[in-house]
This record gives sequence, structure tokens and C-alpha cells, in this order.
Amino acid sequence: MANKVLVTGGLGYIGSHTVVELINSGFEVIIIDDLSNSHVETLDSIEKITSVRPIYGNLNICNLDDLLEFTSAHSNIDAVIHFAAYKAVGESVDEPIKYYRNNLNSLLNIMTMMEGLSKKNLVFSSSCSVYGEPKSIPVNEQTPVEPAESPYANTKLICEDICKDFFRNIDGSCTLLRYFNPIGAHKTALIGELPLGPPSNLVPVITQTAIGKRDKMMVFGDDYDTPDGSCVRDYIHVVDIAIAHVCAVKRLIAGKEKTKVETFNLGTGNGVTVLEMINSFEKVSGEKLNYEIAPRRPGDVSAIYADVKYATEELKWTADRSLDETVLSAWKWELYLQQQNN
Ligand code: WQD
Repeated sequence: MANKVLVTGGLGYIGSHTVVELINSGFEVIIIDDLSNSHVETLDSIEKITSVRPIYGNLNICNLDDLLEFTSAHSNIDAVIHFAAYKAVGESVDEPIKYYRNNLNSLLNIMTMMEGLSKKNLVFSSSCSVYGEPKSIPVNEQTPVEPAESPYANTKLICEDICKDFFRNIDGSCTLLRYFNPIGAHKTALIGELPLGPPSNLVPVITQTAIGKRDKMMVFGDDYDTPDGSCVRDYIHVVDIAIAHVCAVKRLIAGKEKTKVETFNLGTGNGVTVLEMINSFEKVSGEKLNYEIAPRRPGDVSAIYADVKYATEELKWTADRSLDETVLSAWKWELYLQQQNN
């Protein structure tokens, strides 16, 4: 009997890639997604890639009655992966209440639902943004978190604390996964990052500029204390992130966790600047990017990348895909989208 995993936000960017890897690893997957930042056609793409069409519930988990009604029809859930949240850093600054209400209530409802499950295993989608502007890099899971740079980051910090308090008193376990910068797309180019509206993340901005959806792009600041003056991030292939979720679910279901709440950094361990990303893209795509240096973007940290030793040791996981391979997968995805729209 296959282990059953409930995935909230399973039609989203990281969610859909994780669903594919879960199915490929023999799990039965149930998806909940309200399509607020995803597309129902992604379900078709998941089926094309895996030959399996997961059970899908179109509902907003902030509606507790809907959530309980849906999950009561699905017994023996072995683990829950909670992706569903708003994640646009800039938007969270403009609309903090929308972010606190959605990101906190959705988690609280998941916990209420989990109280009715016989197995209480939760993998929670957290973020490197909880580190704020770190005093030293690379950051490891013991690096003190700094004041959040945005309401988005603060919702992730608060949710981590909610998880710690909830699991302290129950017979269950939780894994907090702090993503660095997920980029790229599945090798089939059938799923990828598909922002509703204009993206703010670097890689979709790069590929949309290259394909002509945008005239030019801005590099937000070249006066930081970094190798070339532009910001440093840890860009990691979304499939490597997805595989880490499978490792985390297997660890919980096997009862191999060492504490009731464990935290792991999901990064490559390499810091890359914005200008280095542009160089990588131009190299792998053969396209010349039209960009300008612009003033710094409020809320940006100058440099952050992960110390990934703990995830490597405990999850038996490393990010396998190179930067160029990852950037090329994002370009192939953009080309696929253009082909679909023609
Ligand atoms: C990266 C760098 C920008 C756009 C991300 C996610 C967030 C969270 C944390 C998961 C920055 C620069 C960008 C552009 C640019 N991830 N940039 N021109 O801010 O690190 O946040 O990681 O929870 O959800 O968004 O990612 O891609 O927006 O920016 O120069 O047009 O690229 O200034 O230095 P960020 P990003």
C-alpha cells in the first residue's frame, strides 16, 4: 500500500515539482490548491510527466470547514507538505494584513485538520528570508535569525514558531525546510515557474526579457560589498528542492527524525551574484540581455547563501544540478511557454 501524502499548494511552482518527485518515488499524492497563484492545467502536465493524475481538491485551506470536509474523505494520510502561502516579498510590504491572515490562518487550519490524523507528519515550506540580513555567511540552521526584512519573511518566522509550539505537545513531528532561491524548471519543460502577472523574481525577469516579453530589465544595485557589487544569492534548481521534500517525508514516515521539529537549509552552498546570473544566462542561451543598473531594491539583503552540511548529513541529500544547467532549464521553460502561446 503506497504511503499517502497531502500536498497543499501542489499546483504551484515548487509544489508541482514536488508532486512529480513524490509520484516518481511511489507515493500516492492528494493535492489541495485554490489556484490563487497557480493554474489547473498544471494537473494535466503532472499527469503527462508521471502518467498519474493525483486527486485534486480546488479549495482554500483558510476555509476550515471546506478543508475538514475534503480531508475527511481521504483516510490514512501519512504526511502533509504545506506549500500553500503567499510569497511575493514586495507585495507583502504593500499588503501585510493579507499576508498575515492567509499565511498564518492556512497553517493553523492545517494543524486543526492534522489533529484528526492518526499520523501527524508535517513538512513546512519555510524560507531563507527568515535569516534577514545575516551577520555572517554562509548561514547554517543555528545562525541566529535577524529581524525580518518583510511581512512575508515574518509570516515564515511566526509559522516556524507555531510549528514548534504545536508539535511540542502532540505525538507527531515536523520538518522545516528553509528554501534559498528556487529557480529553473522540470527537464520536460512541461512545468515551471508561471507567475500570475509580472514576476519580481530575477530568473523569470531574465527569461522574459530575453524572449521579448519585456524590453529590458534592471539590476537593482551594483554598489554592494560583493565581488561585483550586485547582490549574492544561493540559486537552487527547483527539482533539487523537490527531491529534498521526498527525503524529508521519507525520514518522517520512517520515524528517523532526531527531534520533534527539525530545520534544514535547502541551498547549493554557493553564492552567485546577479551579474554572474546574467552572464550564465547569456552563455547557455546565446542571447544578449538588455539590462541597466538601477538603484537598490528596498528590502533586499546584500548577500546570503547556505551552509548545507546538515541537510547533506541528515537528509542524505545534495543539490545535484549545476548553475548553467539550472539556468538553461528556465530558458527552455520560457521557450515552451512561447510555443504554447503561438
Ligand atoms: C534576487 C536578486 C534582486 C529582479 C526570493 C523569493 C522569496 C524567498 C526568498 C522563498 C536580488 C535581484 C531581482 C530584478 C534584480 N524565497 N533582482 N532585478 O529577493 O532573494 O527573494 O528568495 O521563500 O520568495 O522571492 O529573490 O529573485 O526577487 O531577487 O536585480 O528584476 O535579484 O535585487 O538581489 P529574493 P529575487
